[in-house]
Amino acid sequence: MMSKYFALIPAAGSGSRMENNLPKQYLPIAGRPMIYHALKALCHFPKIASVFVVLAPHDSEWLKHDWSEFSDKLIMLNCGGTTRSMSILNGLKAASEKLLIGDNDWVLVHDAARPCLSETLLEKIVDELTNDAVGGLLAVPLADTLKRSNVSSRVERTESRKDLWQAQTPQMFRYKLLVDALSRPSSMTMTDDASAIEGLGLHPKLVLSDTRNLKITYPQDIVLAELILRTQLGGDGECS
Ligand code: C5P
Repeated sequence: MMSKYFALIPAAGSGSRMENNLPKQYLPIAGRPMIYHALKALCHFPKIASVFVVLAPHDSEWLKHDWSEFSDKLIMLNCGGTTRSMSILNGLKAASEKLLIGDNDWVLVHDAARPCLSETLLEKIVDELTNDAVGGLLAVPLADTLKRSNVSSRVERTESRKDLWQAQTPQMFRYKLLVDALSRPSSMTMTDDASAIEGLGLHPKLVLSDTRNLKITYPQDIVLAELILRTQLGGDGECS
């Protein structure tokens, strides 16, 4: 049987580095809450059967917005945990109670904080990994020179950047493998899914991405994301 594709967006974080009381995923970007852009990219991608969004149990923002354009392709789950990995694991388990998900079906985990995911990159990761035994992730080779600091913020030494990549999302793994990897206690504090898979002794494939698929971490990242979205939309960047 052909494997299906599902997407899951963990969106239960508070985004403390954004200096804003509103959780990061709801901060406005190009006239919409940040998470809207990731949802749009994933829900409009025909190969993906359903998109699950994992919210914090006490989330009070989601229902303030109109998500009806995504109809029943979008499924909301209120089971976020205290870490990203916990939110994803809870979400994967809750998702299989809502829909029939096979052990070998693919799950693309994508952060709400990456609003500039393009159709081209989605197509690329799905094409490159669909016959892969392990799965993998979008990533870019490190461009900057790396400095390690000492306690007084002075350079201790320069690190080699050879063979170093910056991990992005989506990260695409088969349902059961991902649940097994994230179920290990050591995975709970890992900052991406690939690390949990690596914990099983496997080697996820690095799929060459580009830096426009940036992650919003600091307030200044929003300006850059709006410029990127504007060029992708080919207009004024505002979503109608
Ligand atoms: O905080 P950070 O930017 O690393 O979060 C990455 C993603 O993980 C975000 O989409 C965030 O909402 C999500 N997250 C979560 N549950 C947590 C912490 C983060 O779903 N407890």
